[in-house]
Amino acid sequence: MPNDAFDRILVTSALPYANGPLHLGHLAGAYLPADLYCRYQRLQGRELVYICGSDEMGAAIMMRALAEGGNAQDIVDKYHGMIEASFRVFGMSFDYYGRTTSPVHAATSQDFFRTLAEKDVFTLKTDQQLYDPEAGIFLADRFVRGTCPICGYEEAYGDQCENCGSSLSPTELINPRSTVTDATPELRETTHWYLPLGDFQETLEQWIDTHPEWKPNVLGQVRSWFQDGLKDRAITRDVPWGVPVPKDVAEAAGVDAEGKVIYVWFDAPIGYISATKEWAAANGHPDRWKTYWQDEGTKLIHFIGKDNIVFHCLMFPAMLMAHGDYVVPENVPANEFLNLEGRKLSTSRGWAVWLHEYLHDFEPDLLRYALATMLPETKDADFSWKEFQARVNSELADVLGNFVNRALTFAHRYFGGVVPELLDPSDLDTDVLTQLAAFPNTIAEAYERFRVREAVQETMNLARLGNKYFNDAAPWHSRKTDPQAAANTIHVSLQLCASLAVLMDPILPFAAERVRNMLKLDGVRNSDAGVRHGTIGWAEAGHSLLPSGHTLGEAEILFTKIEDDAIQLQIEKLEARAADVATEAAPAAPYEPLKDEIEYDDFAKLDLRMGKVTVAEPVKKSNKLLRLEVDLGFEQRQILAGVAKQMSPDDLVGKRVVVVANLKPRKLFGYESQGMLLMAEDRDGRLTPLSADGEAGGVVR
Ligand code: 2FM
Ligand code: ZN
Repeated sequence: MPNDAFDRILVTSALPYANGPLHLGHLAGAYLPADLYCRYQRLQGRELVYICGSDEMGAAIMMRALAEGGNAQDIVDKYHGMIEASFRVFGMSFDYYGRTTSPVHAATSQDFFRTLAEKDVFTLKTDQQLYDPEAGIFLADRFVRGTCPICGYEEAYGDQCENCGSSLSPTELINPRSTVTDATPELRETTHWYLPLGDFQETLEQWIDTHPEWKPNVLGQVRSWFQDGLKDRAITRDVPWGVPVPKDVAEAAGVDAEGKVIYVWFDAPIGYISATKEWAAANGHPDRWKTYWQDEGTKLIHFIGKDNIVFHCLMFPAMLMAHGDYVVPENVPANEFLNLEGRKLSTSRGWAVWLHEYLHDFEPDLLRYALATMLPETKDADFSWKEFQARVNSELADVLGNFVNRALTFAHRYFGGVVPELLDPSDLDTDVLTQLAAFPNTIAEAYERFRVREAVQETMNLARLGNKYFNDAAPWHSRKTDPQAAANTIHVSLQLCASLAVLMDPILPFAAERVRNMLKLDGVRNSDAGVRHGTIGWAEAGHSLLPSGHTLGEAEILFTKIEDDAIQLQIEKLEARAADVATEAAPAAPYEPLKDEIEYDDFAKLDLRMGKVTVAEPVKKSNKLLRLEVDLGFEQRQILAGVAKQMSPDDLVGKRVVVVANLKPRKLFGYESQGMLLMAEDRDGRLTPLSADGEAGGVVR
């Protein structure tokens, strides 16, 4: 549905567990894209509330407390403070950042639970569950590890196998052991409340069918859950940390509530509601949360990472539908995962870039921009420090910063620091102004469709247009031959800068403000949370915003280039930490799950051949590809291999390799790639070419 059909927008970002600091993977999933979206919508003048907070309940917190030796409350206090501070410095524009240990949250979750219990939505089941006799607690979720019955991974958790992604229940694990004491658990009887998701499947399917516009990665996952059939989900636990099951509900059901808490995935999404309540109260309108959650005119958008899809697209909507008073999400634009330097991001293996450490070394805007160009929107994506440097130096500094600087410096040097008048514009001037007028819409469309990468690229295209125009118009020449032509160029260039100062704001809020100061451009609507003053917003940004004769502020350098040394330092820091963790014997990363079974005929279609690499060289403008020439005996092949981040050409020249010889050729960076090299990938994502003796051209079978 178009925005006009809604009166207001409610945006949420997944509540991060307060069990560790934030890293780039978090940002790329649920946070950065949401912040850009919200700032864009606010500049459009739309009524919007952006909610987030710390997820402070559940097993993830208790596990951390066990690891650090503190109690759960100390852990959440520590990490909530850290997370909130990093978000603030990074420029996240939450209207409210709450926490699920708040009393409002406990009451809101318990009320929700009570309403569903009174509506007879839940089922109660008594069965045998794993119990740790040494610790004296039941072992739910992450309190038990064992072998995954689906893929055989030996370190699967009681709620999920991180290797194959299957969701599990503790009693399904083979050889279970307590993560608290390492004891072998025994079975004990206990009673729990269940949400019978299967009862909601038909309604959920009908609802999802009304949203063909959702991202294919989200719809794909949801449909596969439907195909497997939705199952009952236990929504209470016997653990000592969580929102207590309401006593009256337990009593009515004849169950002893002692030690029973609400499951974290039941209370966490309700955290969005409690935080909205707290936001409303803090702003002096305690009932306004209802307008956002209970009035049909709300467009509710959940930004999450792909591991949260089932909870936001099925479980929480089922809860909202069952309750009856709430709106359901209009979209759940989940992102895929972000890898780091070609390897899976892993906090336990020390392979992560922490946000607070980044912010110590660099400006927030640089990461906001660079990461926004690499978001894992449709598939997993990779962050590398070299790519970060390239984006900053060759796009922010060379294109955007350079353009703003050229226009302003010229205006100061030759036009007394005021906007010169536009008189008798040339075709080029008019054409550029016409092109400018189209930008707000083009960029807006990308944001509306949750294509943030595209929005960022389009925004940078406006600066590219500016630079090209400045070069083509060459005011340094026309200044001497036709001063009015030079004045026109500077007039138009300054209008482009002014528009950029609005359109770049969602991505680069700090730099955008600096450009507005340089231009003395007042009256731009605030994209941050809170009251919005200002009459210039998104729609105005396609027009000329600076009147002739307007006095400009001082020009200053917008972005400084990052030296190679600074990048090298980051790479070394990352590797050193991973090495430290490795020596502390971190648990092995999971094996990749097996693919579906195939017939021999499927395999026989592959024509695998022995080959010898004769030439290997980098591919210009690509930091991933190497161009190889491979001798197949009966012919030479050119093959482009995506290994440049892990191997140097010297590692490959002279190697005997295995080639997929009947793969359809494809063009990459202007070269035709005529086949593929087989590589072994270890669990850390490290590649080794498959090598074998044998004459070039020989068949591999
Ligand atoms: O995966 C996570 O980090 C969860 N803490 C996300 C919760 S999202 C919401 F439901 F609160
Ligand atoms: Zn598994």
